[in-house]
Amino acid sequence: MADRESAGAGPGREPLWWQKGVIYQVYPRSFQDSNGDGVGDLEGIRRRLGYLEELGVDAVWISPIYPSPMADFGYDVADYEGIDPLFGTLDDFDRLMAEAGARNLKVILDLVPNHTSDQHPWFREARTSRTHPRRDWYIWRDPAPDGGPPNNWLSEFGGSAWEYDENTGQYYYHAFLASQPDLNWRNPEVAQAIHKAMRFWLDRGVAGFRVDVIWHLLKDKDFRDNPPDPDYRPGMNPYRRLLPVHTTDLAEVHTVIAGLRKVVDGYDDRVLIGEIYLPVERLGAYYGANLDGAHLPFNFALLEVAWEARAVADLIARYEKALPPGGWPNWVLGNHDRPRVASRLGPDQARVAQMLLLTLRGTPTLYYGDEIGMTTVPIPADKVQDPWEKNLPGLGLGRDGVRTPMPWDASANGGFSDVTPWLPLDTNFPEINVMQHRVSSHGMYALTHALLSLRRAHPALAVGAYRPVAATGNLLVYGREAQDERLLVALNLGGEPLLAAFDGLAGQILQSTLCDRVDEAVAGELALRANEGVVVALGRGVAFPAEAG
Ligand code: GLC
Repeated sequence: MADRESAGAGPGREPLWWQKGVIYQVYPRSFQDSNGDGVGDLEGIRRRLGYLEELGVDAVWISPIYPSPMADFGYDVADYEGIDPLFGTLDDFDRLMAEAGARNLKVILDLVPNHTSDQHPWFREARTSRTHPRRDWYIWRDPAPDGGPPNNWLSEFGGSAWEYDENTGQYYYHAFLASQPDLNWRNPEVAQAIHKAMRFWLDRGVAGFRVDVIWHLLKDKDFRDNPPDPDYRPGMNPYRRLLPVHTTDLAEVHTVIAGLRKVVDGYDDRVLIGEIYLPVERLGAYYGANLDGAHLPFNFALLEVAWEARAVADLIARYEKALPPGGWPNWVLGNHDRPRVASRLGPDQARVAQMLLLTLRGTPTLYYGDEIGMTTVPIPADKVQDPWEKNLPGLGLGRDGVRTPMPWDASANGGFSDVTPWLPLDTNFPEINVMQHRVSSHGMYALTHALLSLRRAHPALAVGAYRPVAATGNLLVYGREAQDERLLVALNLGGEPLLAAFDGLAGQILQSTLCDRVDEAVAGELALRANEGVVVALGRGVAFPAEAG
């Protein structure tokens, strides 16, 4: 059996790029506008690749850029093998790929195989008649005897997941918007069509895919009702009324995922990442029974964990335990669907969280702008764009605030665009912007840059084993180890100074979240200031302190 802790990094097993590398998510509408329409585009991303190279990431995952009516901002695909004119052309894409390659940056695309847009030709054809050959590419059911929806399944974006089609007298299933009909993955033609689209992009050199809502791909073939969730309370997201046991996380879904993996494995060195919102104990299955599933089933647990040392340490332990032998871990602190970390934890703890993300065992994914401490921007009611917020207003589900334009400098519109952007920039952009950050030796950018450099320089951080050391109150301490190198990470998750004392502790600080103390010698005890985390290189032969529990 492979050693769980050194999988992919053991003797004779060179770690793969996506194991030792760091992924950076770009939300293309908000990264850089190059053609003055207020929306970011591929040429804009291309022009900013130098920034990403300098920051020190390895791969760029770009949220969907395919032709789309943009009802869900690209997650409603109308053509899997094209580029939406809003983002540019295939030539722009190829130019972006070429320049990324020259800078040693990989490009990962978003694949949205669970549903299409209702404007996709496949669905337009499917809805023309019950007997059309495309009909069975989607999920159709007769009305219930009372004429209502066939069962109680709910849409994640509010209301029934069934939409009635007048023309053919049947309902179709949509896990998200009614304009995002779900594909029927029980039909082999659907798999063939999506596999073909994957090859289209793999042939163009993409390094892999982040697969949208991969745990949704199959639904119960008997269409049984979902049971009520006993924990649901009024005022919660109404989707939570039911436990989605018959609509998500089906045992058979792993066969579908193995099919996607096979396509990716037809090419050298590509990666398959799955979006999965499930407890960490459920993630193991998504690696596949024979590691033939996703390389990286996204681990979103840090987005919700209580910010206490014991809770975080327990989460790490639960996750490490849940990984199958040879399964490579990964961690995420932010994305285009969840509140910004700097708003959730505050700007000071966001730095500590960044150190956690970049020193845990496993591939980290950074969300654009988190490296300069972007916060969730309040969006006035008349500027709301997100269909989720429009469907279910006032529940705090809206995602616009985490999708605001990247502030590059203090000029008009933050250097993002020549015109008013599609979403407002944070009003603080004259102070919080990339240009300001890049000249500061103590800012969040400096910290992120330094941590990324440390990961490159120290295999213990990039691919080493994880050793729990201590977790009490606000103090979280763990070790990372590879060959003869031992690094100790000590994080103060609170706003009061802390003293961490360990017998025999001796080493040298490599990095503090406050970007000072570099090279400071440490002996016997380690004083942490409020909201400070440090990475310490232990002296030769110094062991990790045993976990106090
Ligand atoms: C995923 C995407 C989200 C989108 C949804 C439906 O969760 O991350 O942005 O709205 O899928 O495609």
